[in-house]
Amino acid sequence: MKVLVTGGAGFIGSNLCDSLLADGHRVVCVDNFNSFYNSMSKERNISSAMKNSRFRLYRNDILDYRGLEGVFRKHRPSIVMHLAAMAGVRPSIERPLLYEEVNVRGALNILELCRCLKVKRLVFASSSSVYGNCRRAPFCEDEPLMPISPYAATKLAGEALCHTYHHLYGLSIICLRFFTVYGPRGRPDMAVYRFTDRIYNGREVELYGRGSSRDYTYIGDIVNGVKAAMKCKRGFEIINLGNSNPIKLSYLISLIEGCLKKKAKKKLASSQPGDVMTTYASIDKARKILGYKPRVKIEEGIRLFVEWYLSERG
Ligand code: NAD
Ligand code: UGA
Repeated sequence: MKVLVTGGAGFIGSNLCDSLLADGHRVVCVDNFNSFYNSMSKERNISSAMKNSRFRLYRNDILDYRGLEGVFRKHRPSIVMHLAAMAGVRPSIERPLLYEEVNVRGALNILELCRCLKVKRLVFASSSSVYGNCRRAPFCEDEPLMPISPYAATKLAGEALCHTYHHLYGLSIICLRFFTVYGPRGRPDMAVYRFTDRIYNGREVELYGRGSSRDYTYIGDIVNGVKAAMKCKRGFEIINLGNSNPIKLSYLISLIEGCLKKKAKKKLASSQPGDVMTTYASIDKARKILGYKPRVKIEEGIRLFVEWYLSERG
């Protein structure tokens, strides 16, 4: 099949592109290499895909509707995976207008093109953050949603637009709520990378909120879940992709310390505005509909991440 991946040079996108290429698919990647973090690392992310004749890269902005339309018309993808977004929870408080523009208008541009060009299926990258400080855990897809950051609110708006396009035009859409994804090519702004980098360089790590925990999910498991969603024949679904095993920040740090064989200089800080206390995915629906089964335990996943981090330095 021919898959168009927006945000395909980013962390999740580049891992997905490599996996789709390995499975023999044709991949069209749209990414504007924005400066949210070092764009050189995005160039590295796609360096092996660039050597593959079944891979095409377009350095386009999803806000440029006409440019995007040209790519859709030229390639006529059967499946679209929409990952391009501004993805930081805490930074979204500083730049709410930018987050709204890219994550809401950008998603709408993709939906419009999927409608006009009769794309068979759209998979939309949503987020565990839409739950806010959810009262019940594990979080089920039908819980009431109360986002507490501009980022989370834009992701919920994206889900709402997906539902609208399914309702009005019969588009087949799967919204996946990813839970804090980590692993090789991980984003430098996220805790796993930040902690590793700081411990490695002997710098202080800041722990926001003593008791907070996250349902960290390994990138390989996410990629498998996304690929299963691409084959899913349902009309509209919202599905969690998590590990269903939340861990505390202190345990995460102890795992990184173990892999680096170095002690962290820890500094306790207050919890940050926009951050939820905990995330914990119920994956019953993913298991049932997608046959999803996360395989990589946090101890193994952190080992693989640190190995990648050190190899990048080498
Ligand atoms: P990322 O920042 O590494 O990837 C996003 C990519 O989109 C980047 O390469 C960026 O250059 C591109 N992009 C941003 N704005 C664009 C625009 N206007 N036009 C074209 N390209 C643009 O982030 P990621 O962690 O790989 O996240 C991918 C998606 O998954 C995002 O939608 C994010 O909200 C969602 N998500 C991520 C996580 C996670 O833990 N990483 C969890 C939940 C949801
Ligand atoms: C992550 C991603 O960044 C979002 O793109 C994604 O949508 C979201 O997961 C999700 O699950 O949907 P977040 O959970 O905030 O957001 O991920 P990290 O930035 O890795 O933070 C994880 C935890 O570490 C949070 O509790 C955060 O407060 C904490 N943290 C982070 C620190 O204590 N110190 C730091 O320096 C950085």
